[in-house]
Amino acid sequence: MTSSETPSTCLIGAGSSGIAAAKALHERGLPFDCYELSDRVGGNWVFQNKNGISSSYRSLHINTSRERMEFSDFPMPKSYPDFPRHDHIARYFDDYVDHFGFRDEIRFGVGVDHVERLDDGRFEVRTTAGETEVYDAVIVANGHHWDPRWPEPPFPGGNSFEGEQMHSHYYKEETQVADRDVVVLGMGNSAMDIAVDASYHARNTYLSARRGAYIIPKYLFGKPVDQIGGAEWIPGWIRYPLMAQLLKFNVGRMENYGLPEPDHKFAHAHPTVSGRILDRLAHGAITPKPNIAALDGDTVRFTDGSEVHADLVVYCTGYKITFPFFDEDFVVARDNELPLYKFMFHPEYGNLFFLGLVQPLGAIMPIAERQSVLITEALRGRFELPPRAQMEADIAARRSKMKKRYVASKRHTIQVDYEDYMRDLANELEAGRDRADAATAASERGAVGAALAG
Ligand SMILES: Cc1cc2nc3c(=O)[nH]c(=O)nc-3n(C[C@H](O)[C@H](O)[C@H](O)COP(=O)(O)OP(=O)(O)OC[C@H]3O[C@@H](n4cnc5c(N)ncnc54)[C@H](O)[C@@H]3O)c2cc1C
Ligand SMILES: NC(=O)c1ccc[n+]([C@@H]2O[C@H](COP(=O)([O-])OP(=O)(O)OC[C@H]3O[C@@H](n4cnc5c(N)ncnc54)[C@H](OP(=O)(O)O)[C@@H]3O)[C@@H](O)[C@H]2O)c1
Repeated sequence: MTSSETPSTCLIGAGSSGIAAAKALHERGLPFDCYELSDRVGGNWVFQNKNGISSSYRSLHINTSRERMEFSDFPMPKSYPDFPRHDHIARYFDDYVDHFGFRDEIRFGVGVDHVERLDDGRFEVRTTAGETEVYDAVIVANGHHWDPRWPEPPFPGGNSFEGEQMHSHYYKEETQVADRDVVVLGMGNSAMDIAVDASYHARNTYLSARRGAYIIPKYLFGKPVDQIGGAEWIPGWIRYPLMAQLLKFNVGRMENYGLPEPDHKFAHAHPTVSGRILDRLAHGAITPKPNIAALDGDTVRFTDGSEVHADLVVYCTGYKITFPFFDEDFVVARDNELPLYKFMFHPEYGNLFFLGLVQPLGAIMPIAERQSVLITEALRGRFELPPRAQMEADIAARRSKMKKRYVASKRHTIQVDYEDYMRDLANELEAGRDRADAATAASERGAVGAALAG
């Protein structure tokens, strides 16, 4: 795979995924350069991040609880609440870097501008500082929640709408909704948070959705909901029906809150978690609406024919997976599809890795941590990928399973069940180690054979 005994690696990004890889590389003494556009680590969790691409807003709290989100060997402070705010989380990532001592290995304020695969399989990397460097391997950790996906196609009348249209990526604080008539579109977590913010500050708040969602509260039975039945060995097919029953008894039907009935089973869509939206709906502070049909002058018309005056429409319609540093004929995720083995290994290029490129029913950080172990073991020759045909068969099977289970949507191309996927990564690590051992034994046998023959 690599041109030298100890391969050199370019790591793109020092968000929570990038720092997990940087630590794993640092601990194994593998040489790497980590490029980070911003002046600090933490990516999305840095409100008003100088990289200009964080989707964080002033009121953002995590929706995966503290104990589920923390790295395995660096607990979050016990003084933190169960669902800390963005600044707690950003500080935690900063502390992680200092605790494990690899800050000096991150180049802050320097981004990766272009990556090109050379004929010998290595990568030529050009940075925003205008430098060019050649690496044996590239790890991509540039995040997948920063490039806004606007409604496709745009709603009729959008061009002449007299109010403001904004994507949730650009929502930063309550002043943007204060004293305005606001339509929030979507049923994901951005829509929940922004509708709740608006419900306290806007003149009127409408929550418009093309389909319903099961809204999961942050607590059940006084425990963070993602800490209930979360042991890694319990498979999703046991956990989710159980959780669906618990929700039915605790929260009840979504229609009771005026929301559309979900058109799918529980856990067949990315989870929508909110401890506050149902309360605001119950107080009449948010008016549910079906999908937008059209914008007209200063009015939004919905698919049921009703109309409201609107100063602002916030499209909480999700994100695109984008790699601006790759040429499109090299790597592109059209419609958010990128066929990767185990969501991290490029089946064609064994020295190109992707980190945190999953949408878990659970937190991304421990996943990126475990993925980093597989990558760094591969880099030092202690993990071997299966043959390409086997990887492609696995990718195809996984894709077809995902398509069968999840609501058809561009937001559902990289879904994983947290526990199942973590277990899968652990098994893959063992299998990859066995393959590496077998390959070493075979090449030793070959060397002995050649020596005897010689
Ligand atoms: C509003 C919001 C709330 C969320 N809440 C949760 C949650 O509660 N729990 C959860 O698990 N997940 C949550 N997520 C998902 C989120 O993606 C992860 O929490 C986390 O940010 C992923 O980390 P990352 O390092 O992969 O990406 P990011 O945090 O996006 O970090 C990417 C880093 O790469 C850098 N970078 C990008 N391009 C380049 C380049 N060309 N060169 C150099 N550096 C570059 C960026 O500056 C950034 O620092 C949320 C997402 C959003 C949008
Ligand atoms: N910590 C937190 O509290 C928090 C807050 C915000 C976001 N997040 C995370 O950030 C990520 C992105 O979340 P997100 O809410 O921004 O995006 P998302 O999960 O992709 O949700 C997008 C929503 O917009 C709808 N939608 C998309 N296109 C549409 C269209 N053309 N017309 C009508 N509706 C449309 C989708 O409906 P369909 O399902 O029908 O496609 C879905 O309801 C997720 O991982 C989420 O968990 C976390």
